[in-house]
Amino acid sequence: MAIERTFIMVKPDGVARGLVGEVISRFERKGLVLEQIRKLTIDEAMARLHYAEHTDKPFFGDLVEFITSGPVVAMEWSGPSAIAVARTLMGATDPAQAAPGTIRGDFGLEITHNIVHGSDGPEAAARELEIFFGD
Ligand code: RTP
Ligand code: MG
Repeated sequence: MAIERTFIMVKPDGVARGLVGEVISRFERKGLVLEQIRKLTIDEAMARLHYAEHTDKPFFGDLVEFITSGPVVAMEWSGPSAIAVARTLMGATDPAQAAPGTIRGDFGLEITHNIVHGSDGPEAAARELEIFFGD
């Protein structure tokens, strides 16, 4: 299985609720490796860049407002099939529908405040890691 790198971010709700350690612990117990970590507050320009694929969606304004509302914890994780494995640990986008045992299923109730972000493919991972950890 190919070693992949993925970008994971604990969103402002997850940081405010003290769930950073919980998220890190779940990824570590699964066997993924934490490569980089950084706490920061995203400004509007960075939010628009990160979520560029969603620019035309009706929820884009709410998404940018939310993701800039407080500090986030940005991380790079690596491991076999890390991108898909991380998405499985996170659960479905809408926490109300996410399975118990997943991060969103165990800790969330509604779609904007879904605790964690994870890259959805290799191109997104490379792009997002460059935004948050590039020089
Ligand atoms: P993410 O990018 O944050 O890891 O989440 P995802 O791939 O599971 O979902 P995506 O389709 O990329 O959506 C990005 C984020 O936008 C918010 N969202 N709100 N109100 C809505 O209908 C709606 N749909 C999506 C969520 O916070 C989602 O994580
Ligand atoms: Mg996404």
